[in-house]
Amino acid sequence: MSFTIAIDGPAAAGKGTISKAVAAHFGVGHLDTGLLYRAVGKRMLDGIEPIEAARALVAEDLQAEGLRTAAVAQAASKVAAIPEVRAALVDFQRAYARRAGGAVLDGRDIGTVICPEAEAKLFVTASAEVRARRRFEELRAGGAETDYDTVLADTKERDHRDASRADAPLRPAEDAVILDTSTLDIATAVAQAIAAVAAKRSDGETA
Ligand code: DC
Repeated sequence: MSFTIAIDGPAAAGKGTISKAVAAHFGVGHLDTGLLYRAVGKRMLDGIEPIEAARALVAEDLQAEGLRTAAVAQAASKVAAIPEVRAALVDFQRAYARRAGGAVLDGRDIGTVICPEAEAKLFVTASAEVRARRRFEELRAGGAETDYDTVLADTKERDHRDASRADAPLRPAEDAVILDTSTLDIATAVAQAIAAVAAKRSDGETA
């Protein structure tokens, strides 16, 4: 049986942690689709034309070093607004979603555009201030020199670009379960996500 779990939401809302935990709990694969856009963004910073880079992308590119930097995140958000870049990445994501046994895909448009037929959809969000604080702590722990205000401005800029682009903007699918993690610790957020997916899985079994 294939069972697709779509997890969308803005940067640093906890999507990555929740997606990994949900995939491990249900024993299915996990694709962080942000890595596709990051890989293309990084190529753009290296001087390669983004549409060509997206068309030439292969699975191994997702393992490249340096995809998690703030500069690559901004570049990813820019290339993600180019319709031809998004179009070039659709087949890879849909093929992954149809893997035998099921899959978790996390991103911005999984429940709305890539897998509108996904059996379970979550939209994980949190206030911009909470997300910026988390990202700031993460960057600082990784040794990056930055300050909270810069990270907050960056977060808001990326949110605005991701939510206002014409093609596949960031927004919850109508049938998504909204999970606001602003005041939740990781364990509680993960438990709520697993419960929401489990409810959909048992719906499928009794349908
Ligand atoms: O989730 P992330 O921070 O790794 O994503 C990096 C950028 O990629 C994000 O700012 C917007 C874009 N993105 C997208 O447009 N659609 C997706 N499904 C995933 C990411």
